[in-house]
Amino acid sequence: MLNVKNLTKTFDRQNRHFDAVHEVNFSMKGGDFCVLTGPSGCGKSTFFHLLCGITKADGGEVFFDKKDICKLSDKELAALRAEKISYVLQGDSLLPNFTVLENICLPHQLSCGRTDLEKKAMELLSHFGLEAMANDYPSNLSGGERRRVAIARAFVHDPKLIIADEPTSDLDEENTAMIIDFFQQQAKQGKAILISTHDLSCLRPGMIRYQMEKGCMKKA
Ligand SMILES: Nc1ncnc2c1ncn2[C@@H]1O[C@H](COP(=O)(O)OP(=O)(O)OP(=O)(O)O)[C@@H](O)[C@H]1O
Ligand SMILES: [Mg+2]
Repeated sequence: MLNVKNLTKTFDRQNRHFDAVHEVNFSMKGGDFCVLTGPSGCGKSTFFHLLCGITKADGGEVFFDKKDICKLSDKELAALRAEKISYVLQGDSLLPNFTVLENICLPHQLSCGRTDLEKKAMELLSHFGLEAMANDYPSNLSGGERRRVAIARAFVHDPKLIIADEPTSDLDEENTAMIIDFFQQQAKQGKAILISTHDLSCLRPGMIRYQMEKGCMKKA
């Protein structure tokens, strides 16, 4: 499903070039649950941005279903993200003026006209213990609750690949275990799941582990 070859992203800081992501090779298929660990600043988020086409690579290729996403137009990339690749951002990403339910459903309604997602959204909210908050606004939720809403939004339209950047960083132990269980279950049903984490309690048998260090990635 996903095939990455020699992927490189270079940034400039104080007149110095450095590779935030350096010649990374990586692949995953449906059913894989991959976990990326590595110190702060090693390039995890930059790598994820490249996989979704949010950031353009300076070298290398990203093939999703055999298409090189580096060669897609912005419109084609937006369509790919709307339908097949979901990305849970590291920080807060909910729209403050929309309710929880609207936050989950509206993006998909606007990007691909789907108006059939409310039932699935409520099922996910219920699974995540948030059904009573469907009509609340994000500012009335805790950080961990907002994070679970963002995860619900990423799964509601049934994408093939879900990339989640530190998805459990705001969560307590119980909710961390619940979210990791949910990801595992989704991978068993054929989805490809890729997460980053600093929390080693997330690690479970069967996960495929990668380690990043100064932009270079290897299997752990
Ligand atoms: N737009 C940018 N311009 C210049 N440097 C950047 C930019 N974005 C990120 N960087 C740098 O690239 C490196 C990798 O950043 P990145 O956000 O990918 O790290 P990370 O592994 O996700 O860290 P964390 O665990 O703290 O989230 C860091 O040194 C960061 O300062
Ligand atoms: Mg990061």
